[in-house]
Amino acid sequence: MTAPHPLEPHIFVIFGATGDLTSRKLMPALYHLVEDSSADVYVLGVATSALDDADFRALTREALDDAGLDGTDAWRDDRVHFQTVGRDEGYSALRERIEAIEQAHGLPGNRVFYLALPPPVFPIAITRLGEAGLASSQGWTRLVVEKPFGRDLKSARALNQLAHTHFSEDQIYRIDHYLGKETVQNLLVFRFANPIFEGSWNRDRIERVEITVAESLDIGSRGGYYERSGAVRDMVQSHLTQVFTLVAMESPTSIRADSVRAEKVKVLQSIAPLGVDDVVFGQYTRGTIDGAEIPAYRALEGVDPASTTPTYAAVRLFVNNWRWQGVPFVLRTAKALPRRTTQVVVTFRPPPVCLFHGVGDDCFDQSDVLTLTMQPDEGFSLQIEVKEPGESGGIRRVPLHFEYGDEFGEIAEAYETLLRDVAEGDQTHFVRSDWVEESWRVYAPILDGDLPVYPYPAGTWGPDEATNLLGHPAKNWGTK
Ligand code: NDP
Ligand code: BG6
Repeated sequence: MTAPHPLEPHIFVIFGATGDLTSRKLMPALYHLVEDSSADVYVLGVATSALDDADFRALTREALDDAGLDGTDAWRDDRVHFQTVGRDEGYSALRERIEAIEQAHGLPGNRVFYLALPPPVFPIAITRLGEAGLASSQGWTRLVVEKPFGRDLKSARALNQLAHTHFSEDQIYRIDHYLGKETVQNLLVFRFANPIFEGSWNRDRIERVEITVAESLDIGSRGGYYERSGAVRDMVQSHLTQVFTLVAMESPTSIRADSVRAEKVKVLQSIAPLGVDDVVFGQYTRGTIDGAEIPAYRALEGVDPASTTPTYAAVRLFVNNWRWQGVPFVLRTAKALPRRTTQVVVTFRPPPVCLFHGVGDDCFDQSDVLTLTMQPDEGFSLQIEVKEPGESGGIRRVPLHFEYGDEFGEIAEAYETLLRDVAEGDQTHFVRSDWVEESWRVYAPILDGDLPVYPYPAGTWGPDEATNLLGHPAKNWGTK
């Protein structure tokens, strides 16, 4: 692997510094960035809690210990500072603190503001940053906004407008951590560096595409958040739709951010309006996963005992363009399933003439199947038919298989890759304002409608009703 090049020195200001995302993802990612490059990055944690630098350094140390990272030469405690703000005030003092840190360490005024905040706080933080004159500096200034970006088309539009009042689009990095996963980034390489696949990537050759993010995790202590969100807002509108647009988009004119992002938006604009028959929702009831008892979603703290929030969503999309007309794309995600797996499964059309019918499987079963596994066991596998040796005349399905781990060893965490991109000013793997609005528009008909929500026991593959979306049993979806 090539050594990463040095990053420009900057201050990384985290709003929401005492939160879960900061300790589990951002701090370990920043640690790796500092360790892997020789750049000076200083961290300023911000929250409403009354902590001082020493308190926050101790929190950070705990987070790094939990991630199995012990200090080496590059990472020093004095890189880390803390500033308390009020819910709606304290931004002038914040500005003075940033300038003082920059002066003390000789930084050139490059700034990242990362909003790892509860989403209702995004607007006020963006407004106060702008009003305090923190939207520009002597160096570059970049604003990173966590997901979810809005909770429907109207709120996403309003948030875009507000952000654009203070920051220009090329300063705004809307994050979707799936775009930082190597295997998701590889989709473009897989498609556009290998003509053998791209030549078949269309309605003539492909029968259907299934995109699955199956999680064995249940909702646990996140009931309060999830009850207002549900599977479509939490996963489908963002992560699954990002993967979908990378699978379905046309070739960009270059791999520059705006070319790639323009093609992704066009796919969303071509999606046929969703109907009620295109959606199956489910909610998990009590069950077991790996021998552990899982309480029903409705029994969790923060959840209405009569809740109809879906923890399972399967959505069928059709893309009305020349390449994809008539090909179903089924996006499925759920909590509390038997196993964790993120996969894109592409089923090719069977041979037009069934030469081997009667001696092997029937012709339908002779479809080649390409499985791109995003996580875990990152890699891909192409199932093809081969003749069984001998006189039997039988044919058998065998996999051509590749795993990242065998070829490249360990791969970087998504947040580390994305924070490097922010520092380098590369927006390719971030969400553009029009993408986020188009995506909410696609799902508008199913966000708050009165659709049935079928129960499924935790530890099973979800409601049987989902079978109708593809015409084969739901339990076979996206699994090896
Ligand atoms: P937490 O609830 O754990 O943390 C929220 C943080 O925001 C705390 O540090 C809190 O500290 C701070 N905060 C709250 N109000 C304010 C305010 N007015 N001004 C400044 N700071 C404030 O949330 P998470 O860390 O889980 O999530 C943060 C964001 O990241 C959310 O948008 C979430 O959707 C997103 N996200 C999280 C993921 C995760 O794995 N946790 C995964 C993907 C996205 P204090 O109370 O001291 O102010
Ligand atoms: C988050 C969702 O954005 O992504 C969680 O809020 C989900 O509900 C998580 O569990 C999944 O991410 P990953 O990287 O573990 O697949």
